[in-house]
Amino acid sequence: MSKPFVFPALAQFVAATAGRNMTKAAYVAVTGGVIMMLLLTVAPAYEAAHRWVDAVLFACLAFFIFEWIVRLRHAHLSQHFWAYAVSGRGLVDAVAAAAIPVALVFGASPKSAWLLGIFWMLKVVPGIPGLRQLRRVLVLESGPLLSVLVIFLMVLFLASVAVYYLEREAQPVAFGSVPAALWWAVATLTTTGYGDVVPITALGRLIAAFVMICGLGVFGLWTGILATGFAAETRRDNFLKTWESVSKVPFFAALGPSAIADVTHMLRTMDLPARTMIIRKGKAGDCMYFIANGEVEVDLPGKKVRLGEGAFFGEMALLGNNLRSANITTTRVSRLLVLDLVDFRMLMARHPDLAETIDAEATRRALENK
Ligand code: CMP
Repeated sequence: MSKPFVFPALAQFVAATAGRNMTKAAYVAVTGGVIMMLLLTVAPAYEAAHRWVDAVLFACLAFFIFEWIVRLRHAHLSQHFWAYAVSGRGLVDAVAAAAIPVALVFGASPKSAWLLGIFWMLKVVPGIPGLRQLRRVLVLESGPLLSVLVIFLMVLFLASVAVYYLEREAQPVAFGSVPAALWWAVATLTTTGYGDVVPITALGRLIAAFVMICGLGVFGLWTGILATGFAAETRRDNFLKTWESVSKVPFFAALGPSAIADVTHMLRTMDLPARTMIIRKGKAGDCMYFIANGEVEVDLPGKKVRLGEGAFFGEMALLGNNLRSANITTTRVSRLLVLDLVDFRMLMARHPDLAETIDAEATRRALENK
């Protein structure tokens, strides 16, 4: 009886698992498995619910073994066996499925073997949004980041040697060697400040103050480099997204590449769902729009006009310094390119042919509305 329901559902589940991305079941298994692994280390909690903890851990492990086998089989059938098996994801799947059984077979105690379940967390890494962007930022900013790292290491070693020299007689245990002084330097330079070892000589304290200030500077620099890198990367992404939309709008088709780049800098994309009011009649206008994708409806007295891909609207208020002459709403999901008033003036000045087209259309619409 259950055949017609179970088999398609199972086939769908297997197909989703073979797809290598995280399924909802995989997220549940990772979360449940890691929580149970943590509970395993809390003696009273484990004693109270050891059956449940063990059952969930085994269920999660079974799921990850099943996932790995399904993916290996899928890779084998599509003749990508080795490409998957030695890829980052393939290795993570292998560790998630095999690390605990292997540890148990080699005689590790169950409590120690299950600690390897922490590697299950690695499965979510490829699905983290923005990871690709972070990697690009790290690659692009690797030069400045490495320079700051070198400064960090230089201050670290200089401070360690100086404090060792100044403190070794006063505190032979804490500062008896340069490596011992390094521990103090790391805790101070990273602004952690455990306070387990502190210089007591006047000069030693002076060095400590200098190291603390350097620590703030180094981390400030790193934060600044990463923040600027992210901002530049986001700008680049937006530019490419807008460029793609601009090049599809027939209105800009006659422009050369450098003019398209110029226009792209002035525009920003806006994705809207259906039935969203974009312009409200009677409001002051501060931007105009080009339709890259989708459709809008202009609500005029006695009639409704639909504008599709490539059309523009919202120009009349900008040209005549008037209030908006109609309500405009999206009829379906739409991507618009927005041109703010300042950029509108710049576009009109720099591209007279575009200005002429916009002007002519605004005049035609004004006449039609009379
Ligand atoms: P604006 O007045 O800024 O805001 C409402 C917009 O509706 C207007 O600019 C035009 O872009 C657009 N519009 C007005 N009349 C018409 C029309 N007859 N046909 C198409 N669009 C129009």
